[in-house]
Amino acid sequence: MSSEKVGDVVYGYTAHSNIVEEQNNILKENVGKLRHELERYKKSPLMICEIKDVYGTQAIIRIPNGNQFFVEISADCEKVKAGDTVLVEQKNLVVVGKVERKNNFDVEKFVIVAKPDVSWKEIGGLDKQIEEIREVVELPLKKPEIFRKAGIEPPKGILLYGAPGTGKTLLAKAVATATNATFIEIVGAELVQKYIGEGAKLVKDIFQLARDRAPSIVFVDELDALAARRIDIGTSGEREVQRTFMQFLAELDGFESLGAVKVIGCTNRKDMLDSAITRPGRLERHIHIPIPTSAARKEIFKIHTKSMNVKDIDAETILAGMADYTGADVRAACTEAGYCAIRQGRTFIKTNDFLQAITKISEKEESMEHMEMFG
Ligand SMILES: Nc1ncnc2c1ncn2[C@@H]1O[C@H](COP(=O)(O)OP(=O)(O)O)[C@@H](O)[C@H]1O
Ligand SMILES: [Mg+2]
Repeated sequence: MSSEKVGDVVYGYTAHSNIVEEQNNILKENVGKLRHELERYKKSPLMICEIKDVYGTQAIIRIPNGNQFFVEISADCEKVKAGDTVLVEQKNLVVVGKVERKNNFDVEKFVIVAKPDVSWKEIGGLDKQIEEIREVVELPLKKPEIFRKAGIEPPKGILLYGAPGTGKTLLAKAVATATNATFIEIVGAELVQKYIGEGAKLVKDIFQLARDRAPSIVFVDELDALAARRIDIGTSGEREVQRTFMQFLAELDGFESLGAVKVIGCTNRKDMLDSAITRPGRLERHIHIPIPTSAARKEIFKIHTKSMNVKDIDAETILAGMADYTGADVRAACTEAGYCAIRQGRTFIKTNDFLQAITKISEKEESMEHMEMFG
């Protein structure tokens, strides 16, 4: 009996010391964790930079404000090369590590990448313009060897200019379709407003994506927002736009004219463009996309009514109401005519539906003009 009691006491004591030891271990572990955490807080942040060039254990880096430095590469750092994104100590600018960029992963969130499906037949009028675009964009993409043999350099890019709604985007998509090219669409104004601080990098990544997915067409809508002539670049915002624009020019200069990447720029303010973008070697071919003539408008009307359920319509009367309509206006009127019919419980469309649609669109435009004048 007594021995059992002793045994009990001994057992209880051992149990107690185990618990204390356990607690001690937990506390020690916590202290360790907190120390480690403290160390982390003490560390100064590393700067993200870009490698411009590597010379053995040294490199030229470009820091985010654009300045460049000749710096050391830490012995622990993995191998780096020009173009890599790296981590750099802020004090002495030593390169300590490489950042794996998820290549092109981000770009595709920012720009529209597509394989368009627009045939030349869907474009009314513009025969001459289509011919020219096919000659300077489609043919070099499809048969570069002809140009190589002949010894001429097709343009790296073209500029389509003219009023809104005249079919510029449509033309660019059609040439991408004809060449089975990847169509990468960027909007100049968005590039410079939405991605502050990232514009230049985005431009770089866009062209990388274009090369990876070649043949490609990089389509820049509202090019004037990016490439406007600037008299003074005082504010940081203007400097940022300028940097993005410079990167764009550098990318244009960086690829072969016979390569499988072409740039199509669009603007309705050609007069505003910096001549740096329109000079030979860059977007050197300029194609004016006019407001349709009445013959062209007739063609456009035919295209847009082709799949509509029209009944005995008087095209001449309808077209007379559409004087100075752009292609986009014609399409809008056709869609509106369809709605007029549906509202009246019909699924076929009559001349009168078109005339009503035209009145409606003209009224809308008048009130818009009124707003512009007095608003
Ligand atoms: N020449 C045209 N032929 C047929 N449709 C046209 C034409 N021009 C414009 N459209 C119609 O108007 C829409 C908008 O035109 P878009 O190409 O975006 O004009 P832009 O880029 O010049 O502003 C097109 O998707 C198309 O439906
Ligand atoms: Mg457009």
